[in-house]
Amino acid sequence: MIYITGDTHNSEDMSNLSKANMEVCCLEQKADYGAITMAIVLGDFGLPWHTAFVARDGIHPTSSTDKKLLAWYNKKPFKVLALMGNHDNYDMLKKLPPVAMFGSTVLKVSENVFYLKRGEVYTIEEKRFLVLGGALSVDKIYRISHESWWEEEAWNATEKEALLAKIAAGERTFDYVLSHNGPTAGIASVEEYVKNGGEVMKDPVVVFNDQIDSMITYKKWFFGHWHSDSGYKNLKENKYIALYHEGVVV
Ligand SMILES: [Fe+2]
Repeated sequence: MIYITGDTHNSEDMSNLSKANMEVCCLEQKADYGAITMAIVLGDFGLPWHTAFVARDGIHPTSSTDKKLLAWYNKKPFKVLALMGNHDNYDMLKKLPPVAMFGSTVLKVSENVFYLKRGEVYTIEEKRFLVLGGALSVDKIYRISHESWWEEEAWNATEKEALLAKIAAGERTFDYVLSHNGPTAGIASVEEYVKNGGEVMKDPVVVFNDQIDSMITYKKWFFGHWHSDSGYKNLKENKYIALYHEGVVV
């Protein structure tokens, strides 16, 4: 069973993956916490956040927060799989060793923690996932390049072309789509979007997500970034599910 939740921001929102929080969500969905084999974080996982030594077995952090957090995730009874968001250290992500998993390639943080690459299709427990990712940081002016902000938060032309070619070659049907920022149709259901009046439309990641949305078929699209659980309220009816602290089992 796969559990999907929102941004964890290094240790700031690590409680998303606490046993207590996950058990409540499982209870509400009449699911068994003990049956969870994978937990997916929809971007802004933020680990590693600090520069760390990377070996074939993953990262070896010197930052005490990263070290403790990694030890905590390594003890989980399920694998932790993270999407790439906008608050992720892309300099470190580039160094992570790729390993074959779920019919494609993932990036290894540790034996129990992996990043899913954007633009990839993964088969996890017989379900097909299209994984997207990225978003523009609205707080970019308060951040420092290569320390707390990375230009790779937005897709480059090569990445986009690779996914479009994949879709053109026939990869059009999925069980679930996972992304960090959403497509417009999903964001429209988030209360924060309505309050802020459309700023998000300037995000090229949303424009690309919309393009992909128009080309594929799937059951549900899960996304984070908005720090909103508005998608959780009508889980069954909603096609687009925004998540933050809540988790959905599939
Ligand atoms: Fe976030």
